[in-house]
Amino acid sequence: MITIVGAGRVGVAAALFMMLRELDDILLIDIIEGKPQGEALDLAHAAAILGLSVDVRGSNDYRDMAGSDLVVVTAGFPRKPGMTREELLAKNAGIIAGIADNILEYAPNSVVMLTTNPVDAMTYVMYKRLGWERRRVIGFSGVLDAGRLAYYASRKLGVSPASITPVVIGMHGEAMLPVPRLSSVAGIPLTSLLTEEELREVAEETVKAGAAITQLRGYSSSYGPGAGLALMAESVKKNQRRAFTASVYLDGEYGERDVVAEVPVVLGGGGVERILELPLTEEERRAFHESCSAVRDLVKRLPRELLER
Ligand code: 2OP
Repeated sequence: MITIVGAGRVGVAAALFMMLRELDDILLIDIIEGKPQGEALDLAHAAAILGLSVDVRGSNDYRDMAGSDLVVVTAGFPRKPGMTREELLAKNAGIIAGIADNILEYAPNSVVMLTTNPVDAMTYVMYKRLGWERRRVIGFSGVLDAGRLAYYASRKLGVSPASITPVVIGMHGEAMLPVPRLSSVAGIPLTSLLTEEELREVAEETVKAGAAITQLRGYSSSYGPGAGLALMAESVKKNQRRAFTASVYLDGEYGERDVVAEVPVVLGGGGVERILELPLTEEERRAFHESCSAVRDLVKRLPRELLER
């Protein structure tokens, strides 16, 4: 069973994409009474109409997550227009610590994915609070950032986003680092296919994509995160060992320690099966370290007691 904690727009979109791919039965948990049950009922009706073999249920009780092998955490306050992900820090850290305690109690053998913002710092809180091996604690947004890079580059190139291998690393936030030199079409780097001006535009659109959606429709993205979470969940549930960019705890990789940042990883049944180290230039490496410093600055502002059990 997959448990999704948080039946807001992201949680429901993730449930929908996972349901469409028939990954497993899904439990939606939320603190608001009626909300997860109502969303689950609507999704269950859709599954019945489409003839999908997936049971979708809703609950306000964490005990119902017992037996879950995958827990996807989307709960927390979302970004409002004009608000940075960083401003969400204090509010959401407390929520994540509380959810971690419930996971420890009711789904102690699961793989945990989370997307609550600011996601790298929240992944750090989850990792520290759970006290598990790092492979089982995975932050989501790299797939979103990479997908957006592929989308914006595809519009300039006239090539399907599916044929673009995008590379975006570092922090999910203003300090994220698109790497066009290592992003490619059929092995040809984007730096050979687009002008400097075009590359700058693609990078800027990628970094600002989340804020653009929030500005336009008044609330933050949900379909992009939902789709990406479903792909990552599939790789774990089916032990596909596909490569994704994800936020993981670094312990020496890229010359970084005790910080969470987006890097390419291989996801399989046990969670992060492998961290892939990109051949970065000195300049890219410096930019990556700066991005990690931005995550560290957030982590420093976290209440210490949330990081321990
Ligand atoms: C995004 O990038 C809100 O972080 C989310 O769309």
